[in-house]
Amino acid sequence: MSDQRVYNFSAGPSMLPLSALERAGSEITNYHGSGMSVMEMSHRSKVFMKIFEETQDKLRRLMNVPEGYQILLLQTGASGQFSMIPLNLISKTGKEDYAVTGNFSNLAYKEAQKYGQINLAVSSADRDHCYIPRQEQIKLDPEASYFYYCSNNTVYGTEWDYVPETGNVPLVCDMSSDILSMPVDVSKYGILYAGAQKNMAPSGLTVVIIRKDLAGHELPYTPLMMNYQTMIDKDSMYNTPPCWCIYMLGLTLDWINEQGGLEGMEKLKWQRANMLYDTLDNSRLFQCHAEKGSRSGMNVTFRTGSEELDAKFVQEATAAGFVNLKGHRKVGGMRASIYNAMPVEGVEKLCDFIRAFDQNN
Ligand SMILES: Cc1ncc(COP(=O)(O)O)c(C=O)c1O
Repeated sequence: MSDQRVYNFSAGPSMLPLSALERAGSEITNYHGSGMSVMEMSHRSKVFMKIFEETQDKLRRLMNVPEGYQILLLQTGASGQFSMIPLNLISKTGKEDYAVTGNFSNLAYKEAQKYGQINLAVSSADRDHCYIPRQEQIKLDPEASYFYYCSNNTVYGTEWDYVPETGNVPLVCDMSSDILSMPVDVSKYGILYAGAQKNMAPSGLTVVIIRKDLAGHELPYTPLMMNYQTMIDKDSMYNTPPCWCIYMLGLTLDWINEQGGLEGMEKLKWQRANMLYDTLDNSRLFQCHAEKGSRSGMNVTFRTGSEELDAKFVQEATAAGFVNLKGHRKVGGMRASIYNAMPVEGVEKLCDFIRAFDQNN
């Protein structure tokens, strides 16, 4: 880790692999002899098209994306998908199932209500989203056009440890905060998507992986830019795509491959997370928000029970070089976001800090 860099526990945008940043830095004014920065290139130029195709290809291989699926590299933001999904998918039956297990699935659920009959298939709001419901708690409508869930709840710090079984109803998943942290079987999903700014690239890019037969059934008033079929037909280039972010994604994917791919990421994920949960569970002062069995490997939410002590913790941690640990206002306390690019050493040092704070307070 270079000298002045801090351990950044931000929920997003968040740490990127140092090697990716350094490579981008070394190429920033003159990319591969082109005489210009990737930021300055036409998205239709040969040199950028190569970056674009190679990045798509790297992602396809890393995630083992099957035939019949398209990888879209869009500008919508993950929140844009809250609208794009119902606009494109609901026409089949006019009904949709939503699992609300946190802040962002709740926002998606509310947005979808504009477009049809939305069934709340399951919710964890009864206990402040501290757990992930089990399969048998989900009330599925076999006539739903799709079932929607969010695999990792960034704000509350819970993560689905299974893929819900929905029969013939297509599965739609927001993987914004745990994509590329483990292997996933893409063939189980109709659509999976993620904002880039946690595990992939700078903000401004949204990756959507869609089973192509689901597109082309949009509601008649669907905005052109929100039509999956438009973006499939134009290979994400109906308009200018987020070129710089796509380039950065390519560099992050190279780094992931060097770390042993998604199996490597999954090992590191639980190495970091288990170390942190063990430290918190063995402390006198700290309690975790998420219930055991539902805990996220990416966002660890915890508190002391005293707002004053929480504030003191955040302040002292910041001074010691552990930044962005303040929890989301909906949960309070602290949140350590430990995405792919967080070095294991960063979590080891945070654990030392937690143990010392626990003893001294
Ligand atoms: C799980 C999840 N979904 C959606 C979003 C919203 O992302 P965006 O800001 O790209 O719209 C976030 C942002 O933190 C998130 O964590």
